[in-house]
Amino acid sequence: MPRRVSPFAAALGSLLRKSNTFAVSNDEELLANIQTVRRRLPELAAKWNITAYGDFERVSLSEHDSDVLRDLLRAEGARTVIEIGLAYGSSALAIGEAISSKGSQGANHLIIDPYQHLFENVGWEAITTAGLGSLCTLVNERSQLALPRLVTEGFQVDAAFVDGSHIFHNVFVDLCFLRELVRPGGLIILDDCQWPSVGTAVNYYELNTGWTSEPISQPSRLRAFRLPVSLGEPKFEMFQPFQI
Ligand SMILES: C[S@@+](CC[C@H](N)C(=O)[O-])C[C@H]1O[C@@H](n2cnc3c(N)ncnc32)[C@H](O)[C@@H]1O
Repeated sequence: MPRRVSPFAAALGSLLRKSNTFAVSNDEELLANIQTVRRRLPELAAKWNITAYGDFERVSLSEHDSDVLRDLLRAEGARTVIEIGLAYGSSALAIGEAISSKGSQGANHLIIDPYQHLFENVGWEAITTAGLGSLCTLVNERSQLALPRLVTEGFQVDAAFVDGSHIFHNVFVDLCFLRELVRPGGLIILDDCQWPSVGTAVNYYELNTGWTSEPISQPSRLRAFRLPVSLGEPKFEMFQPFQI
């Protein structure tokens, strides 16, 4: 049976084909493609009235914060990233741009989201349209189940971006496993720490496991945390109650 392509995804593909940037034969073309798709996403979302089904503006990381995310990962030299929460792909494209900015060889982006179908596969279509399909893997599973499996497989990445479930216990569990999946000294970036559910979960790791807040040079809703250079367990007697 032919795969169903949403009108939004089809429009994105045809726009790129028209502007002749669809083919990806080298890293420069790939970067140009990613930038075109990133630029066009909000415009096409408005054109296709995507807010009617999935509230693009509320759900998607803004263009500004996507740039902040890209710049943080680029400054970090991150080549391998776990992302939680694909939705319409705004943050995923920014991550793709960062990890392929010094060449796509060795770049790897693992995205976890069990609900891409609720977004008409637009995020995944945006990724493949940009030419990032071969660098990205989408795991259609709740991150709370996928991450512990990745730990047992010995998977490791340079950085993670967390924008999945915002329920306290889910964020807390995500961060518990990302602590082992992101290499010692690596970076965990989160959206929405202004929500008590997200901010409180992070606060545990900051107070009890040695994560330090990484400065972000521009105003942003994102927060970034640097992991300690070695993964040690805190003493339970030293537990610091956490709240925001
Ligand atoms: C705020 S949206 C992410 C927006 C995305 N970062 C962007 O810039 O377009 C939250 C996403 O988390 C996903 N999500 C919700 N619960 C999840 C879970 N338990 N595990 C993984 N992803 C989850 C939703 O399907 C949704 O795509």
